[in-house]
Amino acid sequence: MFSIIVAFDKNFCIGANGDLPWHIKQDLRHFKELTMGHKVVFGRKTFDSIKKELPGRVVYVATKTRRKAGKPYLVIRDFGKFLEENKNSDEEIFIAGGEQIYKMALPYVKKLYITQIDLEVQGGDAFFPKIENLKIISKKDCVENGVKFSFLECEREIAKNCDTGTKTKL
Ligand SMILES: NC(=O)c1ccc[n+]([C@@H]2O[C@H](COP(=O)([O-])OP(=O)(O)OC[C@H]3O[C@@H](n4cnc5c(N)ncnc54)[C@H](OP(=O)(O)O)[C@@H]3O)[C@@H](O)[C@H]2O)c1
Repeated sequence: MFSIIVAFDKNFCIGANGDLPWHIKQDLRHFKELTMGHKVVFGRKTFDSIKKELPGRVVYVATKTRRKAGKPYLVIRDFGKFLEENKNSDEEIFIAGGEQIYKMALPYVKKLYITQIDLEVQGGDAFFPKIENLKIISKKDCVENGVKFSFLECEREIAKNCDTGTKTKL
């Protein structure tokens, strides 16, 4: 099964100038805790923006062009095919962005771990796609250096016409 892990602001902004628009240590820790021991998929641009190693995880990078070099990772040449081939997998596979990768993966995703950040980023250039039929499973409010944010665990109804949960507009 595929799960999305993402942080976005009030306008669904996820990035600016190829990087995260904020630095929230608790969110980085949250990402590490959730993804540890799992498969994690990044788009090539997001992967290039990560300066640290990602020990303890099996890292996949979606790239149509890049040859393997440097940090250890597995290459996905056709992300659409990867989604189709793994959609019934029993293990949780984390989709970790960015915008292009989230957009393609969203129809396949049941669970979303969302960090909802109480900011309005100026000059953002990467956004999370519009989501509907989200059911909030849990919510934890936090604050760091004056910035408020919430960790949400959500489920998305994949099949239409069978939505019994609370429809939430984030
Ligand atoms: N806030 C968050 O939670 C969060 C999380 C992740 C990322 N971000 C932000 O999102 C931004 C980056 O997003 P982005 O949309 O520009 O880039 P991206 O999704 O990270 O990567 C795009 C790349 O993925 C590869 N790709 C796309 N479609 C593919 C396919 N069908 N098969 C195989 N590979 C494919 C291509 O790589 P090649 O060009 O190598 O072929 C493409 O250039 C950054 O600002 C980053 O910081 C934010």
